[in-house]
Amino acid sequence: MNVLMVCLGNICRSPLAHGILESKAPEGWYIDSAGTSGWHEGERPDTRSIVTAKGRGLNIDQQRSRPFLVEDFERFDVIFAMDSSNYTNITRLAPDEASKAKVRLIMNEAYPGENRQVPDPYTGGQRGFEDVYDMLDLAIKKFLEQHS
Ligand code: 4NP
Repeated sequence: MNVLMVCLGNICRSPLAHGILESKAPEGWYIDSAGTSGWHEGERPDTRSIVTAKGRGLNIDQQRSRPFLVEDFERFDVIFAMDSSNYTNITRLAPDEASKAKVRLIMNEAYPGENRQVPDPYTGGQRGFEDVYDMLDLAIKKFLEQHS
């Protein structure tokens, strides 16, 4: 299974989702993350994401931001969007219905059909990042329960 985590900048939310799933995924799975924008291309995750991950025993320092690419529809089986804006921006690029069907809102794994959002923590403080971590940890746990 190849899973891609996507947010806007690929420096706050999706690096956490990437790190959490990578740490729990069965052998042989490939996990990556990307941003719908290329604003932070080449940068490491936001310090607040790195600190939050470290506090939970995860090292995400080695990640580097990259933009989402149309080719990702071929490389990945599941593409998780953090919020509805990400979802719209990704599905807009889908070349066909099968590609579009790979895109899901990540919180729907924990709360099916509710279309809950993972809030953008960029302009807030450390607390927002801790909350994002907890939300993602829950959604990823539920996702893995369906696939192991
Ligand atoms: P992310 O957060 O999408 O969770 O990585 C953001 C990072 C950067 C910006 C916005 C959101 N920005 O405007 O630069």
